[in-house]
Amino acid sequence: MTGADERGGHTLGEDRLEEDRVHEDRFHEDIERILVPSAAIAARVQALARAIGEDYGHADGRLTVVPVMTGSLLFAADLVRALPHRRMRIQLATVSSYGGTATSSRGSAIVGALPKHLEGHHVLIVDDILDSGGTLRLLRSEFTARGAADVRACVLLRKRIPSALATPVEYVGFDIGDEFVVGYGLDYDDLYRNLPYVGSLRREAQRA
Ligand code: IMP
Ligand code: MG
Repeated sequence: MTGADERGGHTLGEDRLEEDRVHEDRFHEDIERILVPSAAIAARVQALARAIGEDYGHADGRLTVVPVMTGSLLFAADLVRALPHRRMRIQLATVSSYGGTATSSRGSAIVGALPKHLEGHHVLIVDDILDSGGTLRLLRSEFTARGAADVRACVLLRKRIPSALATPVEYVGFDIGDEFVVGYGLDYDDLYRNLPYVGSLRREAQRA
């Protein structure tokens, strides 16, 4: 594998964040702090796509990208558009992992049907954030059991907590601290997914 530096999570410098906080013009009043500005996300998505494009050169036409709904909606849409030179199938998986609040995951459950006809396919799971690791563990075992040639995972964010760091994942956008974040697909009670950046939520915006 080449370009190994693109596969670990990036960490943003505080000076950069300060600058973007001032210039981000669509700052929502419920957001306490922008953790990952939209420009940083866009640059990182291109770098991840470059690494993925190289690694899956052998899998052309036998690559199945599985965005985990709903959190990876924006991330996956941007990521696959950065890979126009690869033939791939896109099949969704829906996993519910927490009850709509800012609490940590209480386990993962598959909702509805999982992707079909994975025999011999190289599966790339795309998720928004790696937290307890339950979602990735569950999907990896399901896809392996369905005969996938191999299963890898790409997450936009990984929390710097033991459970997340202990979970195998091949591609990571950014490593962030242990706090609840929203935006760029991530929600609180299904809100804030449309924000173009990732930020932390003001306490007043969280209902008990
Ligand atoms: P895991 O299965 O515990 O790794 O959790 C992954 C899922 O939990 C993500 O796909 C999100 O849906 C949800 N989640 C975990 N942490 C956060 C967060 O900080 N904000 C929003 N959703 C989160
Ligand atoms: Mg999710």
